[in-house]
Amino acid sequence: MELSDVDELMKHWNKPELQQFRSRPRIASRDEEISWIRDTWERRRKGEAYIFGIFLKENELYIGNIELRIISNIVQRASTGIGIFNPDYWGQGLGTEATELILDYGFSSLNLHSIELEVFSFNKRAIACYKKVGFVETGRKREAHFMGGKYYDIVLMDISAQEFASKNRGE
Ligand SMILES: CC(C)(COP(=O)(O)OP(=O)(O)OC[C@H]1O[C@@H](n2cnc3c(N)ncnc32)[C@H](O)[C@@H]1OP(=O)(O)O)[C@@H](O)C(=O)NCCC(=O)NCCS
Repeated sequence: MELSDVDELMKHWNKPELQQFRSRPRIASRDEEISWIRDTWERRRKGEAYIFGIFLKENELYIGNIELRIISNIVQRASTGIGIFNPDYWGQGLGTEATELILDYGFSSLNLHSIELEVFSFNKRAIACYKKVGFVETGRKREAHFMGGKYYDIVLMDISAQEFASKNRGE
């Protein structure tokens, strides 16, 4: 992302319909988001995290972010997270496409061995998207999330480099 992308981000970022899906809801000011964009450059430079904007091919509209955070360089494992912050673009296959691209980058370019994620049990759209790409559920943190007066499980999922490669070969 460039600093100029912050305006598009701020149109959507603080809406509850988006923040409900975030593991750490983060209401932010414009200045904080500018610092966050600068921080993504620094973390990439250090090899800690690879955070990308998601842009529409046809008009380069900035609609979301996707990232890989390195957990261990020894076992070559990272975690991933995605947020299409502009709800007009939910449910059109873009999250699936972006997730496939970040996995390909992680496995083919960063030589990762496996990638994990966490998702709230009520986020059915995200879970369907991750399953389509090849993530499998590995466990649950039971009733580990509280929202709107109710407890929800946090679903743990992961995928290995080998599983991703087999899936893409159609096996
Ligand atoms: C989660 C997110 C990245 C998914 O991307 P997307 O582009 O909306 O999703 P896709 O269109 O690629 O795939 C969604 C799938 O979920 C399915 N789906 C949608 N609502 C569903 C529901 N209530 N129950 C089950 N499946 C559902 C869709 O049918 C689609 O599957 P299909 O292509 O087989 O029909 C995106 O919606 C988003 O950013 N949401 C807000 C932030 C968020 O939830 N981030 C993830 C935090 S873990």
